[in-house]
Amino acid sequence: MKKIFRVLGFTVAGVLFVVACAAAFVSVRGIPFYEAPKPQVANIDYTPVRVAQGQKIVNAMCADCHLSRETNALTGKFLPEIPEDFGKLYSANITQDKAHGIGAWTDAELVGLLRTGIGRDGRYRIVMPSFAHMSDEDVYSVIAYLRSNDAQVQPNPTPSHEQEPSFLAKALANTVMKPLPLPTQPVLAPSPTDAAAYGRYLVVGRYMCYDCHSKDFKTNNALEPEKSEGYLGGGNSFMTPDKKEIKSRNLTPDAETGIGDWTENQFVQAVRFGLSPHGPLNAPMPKFSLMDASEAKAIYAYLQTVPAIKHDIPLFGATASVATR
Ligand code: HEC
Ligand code: HEC
Repeated sequence: MKKIFRVLGFTVAGVLFVVACAAAFVSVRGIPFYEAPKPQVANIDYTPVRVAQGQKIVNAMCADCHLSRETNALTGKFLPEIPEDFGKLYSANITQDKAHGIGAWTDAELVGLLRTGIGRDGRYRIVMPSFAHMSDEDVYSVIAYLRSNDAQVQPNPTPSHEQEPSFLAKALANTVMKPLPLPTQPVLAPSPTDAAAYGRYLVVGRYMCYDCHSKDFKTNNALEPEKSEGYLGGGNSFMTPDKKEIKSRNLTPDAETGIGDWTENQFVQAVRFGLSPHGPLNAPMPKFSLMDASEAKAIYAYLQTVPAIKHDIPLFGATASVATR
C-alpha cells in the first residue's frame, strides 16, 4: 500500500513539474516568432482607383481597430472589445511615420502581414484578422491607400503601445492559434455580374462578415470559411466599451431567427447605414458607410443561398428597447 502511495506521489509531482515547466516556457516565450513571410509582390501602382477602393476597405475593415479619436489618424489605440481574460491589447500606428508607423515597411512585408498575421520582425500579431481570401487587387488597394496623401495616414510619431497579453493569450498563441500560410495561387475576385458568387467573395474575402457572424472565433475555419461552426448563424460574442456582452446576429435565411423575412432594402439599410428593422446597430458591427448599394445587394443575394440555421440571438441593449417600444 505504502509503495503505491509513494509511486502515486512521484507521479503527481512529476505531472506538476511538467505543467510548471510548460507554464514557465509559455510565460517566458510570450507571443511566438516565426520566419517572416516573403511573398512575391511586383511593384504595386498606387493608382487613384486603388486609393479610392483602399479607402473604402480600410474605413470598413481597419479603422474600427486602428483609428485613434485623439489624433484622428490611424495611430492605434487600446482595444476595449477584447475580453479581459486575454490581457490588455492595443492596435498599432499604421501611419506613414518611418519610426513609429509603417513608413519603413515594404509592400511585400505589408502583404505578408495581411495574409499571414506575421510581421516583418517575425512576431505573430495575434489579434489582427488575417485576410486570407481578400483578392490580390483589394490587398494592393489597401496598401495604395496606406501610401496615399489622405490625412489619416500622414506620418504621425505617436508610438504604438506595448502589448500586455495575459497568460491565457500567450498560451493560446503558443498552441491553438496559428498564423496562416501565404496563398499559393493568385487570389481573384469573381465578376460582380454573378451576384451570388460576388456576394460570397464580399462575405468571406473583402469584408469578412462570416468571421464575426459565425458561432465563435475559436471554431472559425480561416482557410475554408464555410466549414466554420454555425456558419453565418451568429452568436460570436464581443464586449462593448462599457463591458456589456454583445453577440453577432444570425444572417442565414431562417425566417424566424435569421433574415429570411427581410426585404433587400431592409438589408441594404442595415448594412450601409447601421439601421436594422430591430433598431440602430451597435459596435463592433462596422459602419459600412462607403460600401456601394450594389455590394450590399450582392451580399443579400448570396445570403439567400446559404443553409438556414435556427439560432435565436437575443437583441442587444438599446436595439432591444427600440424594438419592443
Ligand atoms: C480587430 C482589430 C484589428 C483589425 C480589424 C485590424 N487590425 Fe491591424 N493590428 C491590430 C493589432 C492589435 C495590431 C498590433 C499587433 C501587435 O503589435 O501585436 C495590428 C497591427 C497591424 C500592423 C503592423 C504594425 C506594426 O508596426 O507592427 C499593420 C500594418 C496593420 N495592423 C494593418 C491593418 C490593416 C491594413 C487592417 C485592415 C485591412 C487592419 N490592420 C485591421 C488590430 C487590428
Ligand atoms: C467586427 C464584427 C462584425 C463584422 C465584421 C460584421 N458584423 Fe454585422 N454585426 C455584428 C454585431 C456584433 C451585430 C449586432 C449589433 C447589435 O445587436 O446592435 C451585427 C449585426 C448585423 C446585422 C443586423 C441583424 C439584425 O438581426 O438586426 C446585419 C444585417 C449585419 N450585422 C450584417 C453584416 C454584414 C453583411 C457584414 C459584412 C459586410 C457584417 N455584418 C460584418 C458584428 C460584425
